[in-house]
Amino acid sequence: MSLILGIESSCDETAAALVTSDREVLAHRLAGQEAAHRPFGGVVPEIAARAHVEILPELIKGALADAGVGLDQVDAIAATAGPGLIGGVMVGLVTAKGLALAAGKPLIALNHLEGHALSPMLSQPDLRFPYLLLLVSGGHCQLLFVEGVGRYRRLATTIDDAAGEAFDKTAKLLGLGFPGGPAVERAAVSGDARAVPLPRPLIRSAEPHFSFAGLKGAVLRARDSGQYAANDIAASFQQAVVDCLVDRTERALAKAQGATALVVAGGVAANGAVRSALTRLAASSDLPFVAPPLWLCTDNAAMIAWAGALRFEVGLVDELDAPARARWPLDPDAERARGAGVKA
Ligand code: KG4
Ligand code: ZN
Repeated sequence: MSLILGIESSCDETAAALVTSDREVLAHRLAGQEAAHRPFGGVVPEIAARAHVEILPELIKGALADAGVGLDQVDAIAATAGPGLIGGVMVGLVTAKGLALAAGKPLIALNHLEGHALSPMLSQPDLRFPYLLLLVSGGHCQLLFVEGVGRYRRLATTIDDAAGEAFDKTAKLLGLGFPGGPAVERAAVSGDARAVPLPRPLIRSAEPHFSFAGLKGAVLRARDSGQYAANDIAASFQQAVVDCLVDRTERALAKAQGATALVVAGGVAANGAVRSALTRLAASSDLPFVAPPLWLCTDNAAMIAWAGALRFEVGLVDELDAPARARWPLDPDAERARGAGVKA
């Protein structure tokens, strides 16, 4: 059994956690920075990096105290080394390197996406490799065939915006506040999902890729037309995203032979409409549906410590010169999606 300290700082969440290879979360602390970014309607990288510097040391001390362990009892220190906002990633990674050096412990420089990809195994002990993972967050929208620790095949990705980004931009366009995902979901409750005709980009196309930029443009036009109430636009937008996610995931299932489960992770997996639609899709495909609890879906350090524990158990540790990376594909062999990078 190993005990791992995990550190997360790739976006606007500062977090530290202690997790064992036996799935015990001994401590997990998290400090959001929503108030600092709210006036700007989005995450400001410089503000985020400075906040990580201020908050992280106390969070780590607090997590160690919660778990009742000292750094000497930890087997390794895992930190997100990318992808993400580079200033923030550097804060977490350099902190982890300092602690690893001081305590004489191995460093695990972790891919944030691997944290999300393996997080469902922390909450669901029965989950076995391989599984099909829909990873939907603010920065990413991918379908991954998770074959084992360190073995990920990317079946699809977004050619422009991530689904969470589309939620955030829609919230901003509709003046619903920040962070956008939960605000759109709340507004959608009282809206009519059939009120506004919105496109379903790439739906039914052969490859299971995603596109959300056109949807964002359609939301802008609907708003400017003055014909629709904000909650009707929110509900119609959410339904369009759900339809796209379900259609694309269904397409990917055909390419995920041998998958033992359909799994969702990332911040957008906190959305109730997304969860219920995927639950129905899994049932119609005779697969178990696995979604981590909400706190494990959004960015946190427990998933980093847990993925670190799985890597540590198979001897995957890193040197102290491991780089911080703004971009870091989980599957470097994945083909570039056609049309990728075309932002509307
Ligand atoms: O995984 P995460 O915490 O950070 C990234 O790695 O990006 O995901 C954050 C994203 C944001 O875009 C946020 O708006 C979205 O997840 N999100 C939601 C909900 N809660 C968070 N989107 C839709 N509905 C929600 N309830
Ligand atoms: Zn994330």
